[in-house]
This record gives sequence, structure tokens and C-alpha cells, in this order.
Amino acid sequence: MNKAGVAIYPGSFDPVTNGHLDIIQRGSRIFSKVIVAVLKNERKDPFFSAAERAEMLALAIKPFDNVEVARFDGLLVNFAKEKKAGVVIRGLRAVTDFDYEFQLALMNRRLEREVETIFLMPSSEYTYLSSSQVKEVVALGGSVEGLVPDFVEQKILEKLKKNGNKKKQRDS
Ligand code: PNS
Repeated sequence: MNKAGVAIYPGSFDPVTNGHLDIIQRGSRIFSKVIVAVLKNERKDPFFSAAERAEMLALAIKPFDNVEVARFDGLLVNFAKEKKAGVVIRGLRAVTDFDYEFQLALMNRRLEREVETIFLMPSSEYTYLSSSQVKEVVALGGSVEGLVPDFVEQKILEKLKKNGNKKKQRDS
């Protein structure tokens, strides 16, 4: 199949899950280049810093030779233009995603007509998977095997330990 041009796959990726990787794989089959764009915005109070999130993504996308990771802040459409990407990829899991995604896509279209949003559907096994759920399950001692790359589960555990130590220091 002849591949289309450059696409941006933006998100918080806090942290990357196998659902995100499923979308990345699908995107990499359609587009000649996929740029996974990590939102730097610290106002969202992420669990992992933008650098940590990008680092985990960089490891996870190693199997794909036409995928790269970048960090961005400001308007997504400006970043897309800067990277000469005509398409924004978003994953659509279930109908619950629809309203938010519709708003995002229409606002981006209003801001920049040249940038088109397309939606890709992950495998059904990832329909109800989210980064927040993964963090909660790990924090409560459950297994997330098969839902995130193994090293991501390890990173969450390390971060929880670090945060716990910081809290202990503050409380003492
Ligand atoms: O994984 P997320 O948190 O659902 O991703 C949301 C993201 C990063 C795609 C969205 O918040 C975004 O594009 N932010 C950049 C700011 C922007 O362009 N806003 C205008 C569209 S509302």
C-alpha cells in the first residue's frame, strides 16, 4: 500500500499503554511518518514529567521505524504545521470518548482548516483501557500485565515509591 504523508498522534501518554501502541501501529501502516506528540502542559498535574513520558514512549516505539516522539506545548495545530503534518490521529475507544473527541477535532478544524483529524479504533481488548486506570490498579497492588509494556509497570512502581518517600519526608 502507498503510504500517506506525515501524521501527528498527540496525547498526554501518562503513561503510554498498549492501547496507545495499538493505535501507533495502525497509524504507522497508513502514514509514511507518525510523530507521537507528548503534551508538556504541567497544568494537568501529570504523574510522570513530560521528559519521563517521552522517554517511555521512545522505548516503546523502537519496533516501528517510521515513528518518532516529540514534545509540544501551545496549540496542537501549530505544532502540526511546524512538523508539516496534515493529519492528527486520535484513538476512539468507546462512545464515551466521542463528545470530547468531537469538540477537540472541531476546534482544531476551526483553528486550522488544513489539518484533518482521523480516528482509529484500537483492538477490542483495549476498549476500556486508560492510563488513569493503569496507575490506579498498580497503586492498589493489582496486575496490569498485557495492558502496558513491562517496563512501564516498573516505572509506575518506582514513581509511587519515590512519591511515598517524599510524602513521608514532608509528614515527619
Ligand atoms: O491524551 P489526552 O490528554 O486526551 O490528549 C489531549 C490533547 C493533548 C490532544 C489536547 O489536550 C491538545 O491537543 N492540547 C493542546 C492544546 C490545544 O491545541 N488546544 C486546542 C484544542 S481544544
